[in-house]
Amino acid sequence: MQDYNTVMSEIHSDSASPTFHIAGIPVYGDAILAPMDGFSDWPFRSLCRGLGSAMSTTEFIKSEFLVRAFKRMEPRMRFDETERPVAIQIYGEDADEIVSAALLVQTKRPDIIDLNMGCPAKSVVHYGAGVGLMRTPVKAARILRRLTAALEIPLTVKMRIGWDDCRTCVLLARIAEEAGAAAVAVHARTKEQGYGGEADWDAIAAVKAAVSIPVIGNGDVKTPADIERMKVHTGCEAVMIGRAAVGNPWIFARLDRPEVPPDAVREMVHRHLERSMQFYGPQKGLMIFRKHAMQYMKLSCMPRYRRVQIIQQSEPEKFLALLDEAFPGSPESK
Ligand SMILES: Cc1cc2nc3c(=O)[nH]c(=O)nc-3n(C[C@H](O)[C@H](O)[C@H](O)COP(=O)(O)O)c2cc1C
Repeated sequence: MQDYNTVMSEIHSDSASPTFHIAGIPVYGDAILAPMDGFSDWPFRSLCRGLGSAMSTTEFIKSEFLVRAFKRMEPRMRFDETERPVAIQIYGEDADEIVSAALLVQTKRPDIIDLNMGCPAKSVVHYGAGVGLMRTPVKAARILRRLTAALEIPLTVKMRIGWDDCRTCVLLARIAEEAGAAAVAVHARTKEQGYGGEADWDAIAAVKAAVSIPVIGNGDVKTPADIERMKVHTGCEAVMIGRAAVGNPWIFARLDRPEVPPDAVREMVHRHLERSMQFYGPQKGLMIFRKHAMQYMKLSCMPRYRRVQIIQQSEPEKFLALLDEAFPGSPESK
C-alpha cells in the first residue's frame, strides 16, 4: 500500500516534462476528470485538478443558451488560473449557432474548446446534437471545419464509439483530425449502451491507430491500475475518468479509496462542501453537494441508516456535525 503523505507531496512537486501536448499546450499527467453534467462543476473540477487531474473540462453547455443568455451560463465556465489547461465544452447541432457560441466562449479565455459528440440523452440527440452528430459525418465535418477556422484556440472533440451498431468513431476521429481538431476523447461505448455494459477499449486502440493527434481514452477506468491498463491496451496518451472519481477524487493521485486515511476523507468532505456553498450559496451548495457526500460515505462503508440521517439534514452545520460524528476514524465516532 502506498503512503498517503508521500503521494500527496509528489503531486505538488514539479513534473519534469509534459506527458503530451494538445496543439502547443503542454499537459502534465495522464489522468483527466471527465466532464459530467451535475457533478464536474467548478468545486469538484478544481479539487480534482489539485489532486492530479491533468486538466479541467467544464460540464457541457448548450450553444443555444450561450448565444441567448451568455451571462447566465458564466458560472458553468468558471475556472481558476491554477486549473489550466482548461477546456470549455459546448454542444449543439446548428453550425452557425455553434460557431457563435464558441466565439463567445473564447472571450472567457479557456485554453481549449471541446465539442460534445457523445451525449446520448434523448433531449440532446433528438435534434441531432451530442452523439447524434456521429450519425451525420458530413455535417459534423462542416461544423468542425468552421469551428477551427473561426477559433484562435485549439478545438477538441469528445465522442463515443458510435450510434448503436454504426461504429463511426474511426471515421469521425479522422474527420476531426483533418478538420484541424487538436485531440479526441473517446468514450468506448455506443449510444445504445448509454452508461452500462462494458466499454470496448479495442475501439479506442483503433482510433489511436488511425490518427496522429492525441487520443484520450474513456470508459470503465475504475481504479488507478486501470489507468495503466487502458494506456497499455490502447496506446492512448491519457485517460478520462468519470464516475469512479465521484467519492474518490484521489484516483488522480493514483490512490485506491482504502489507501486514503479517514481523516483525509473527512477533510475533503469539509473542503468540498465549503467550496460548493461558496460557489452556489449555502442552501443550494449543500443540496448539490449531497450526491457527492453519498459517494464519499458509501465508499467509507458507513451504514445506510447513518447515511440517510446525514443526507436529510438541510442545515450545513448540523450536516457537518453529523458527518464528523459518524465518520470512521474521526475522534467523534469512537
Ligand atoms: C452524470 C453524468 C453526466 C455526464 N455529463 C457529460 C457532459 O456534460 N459532457 C460529456 O462529454 N460527457 C458527459 N458524461 C460522460 C462522461 O464524461 C464519461 O464519458 C462517461 O461517464 C464514461 O466514463 P466513466 O466510465 O469513467 O464514468 C456524463 C456522464 C455522467 C455519468
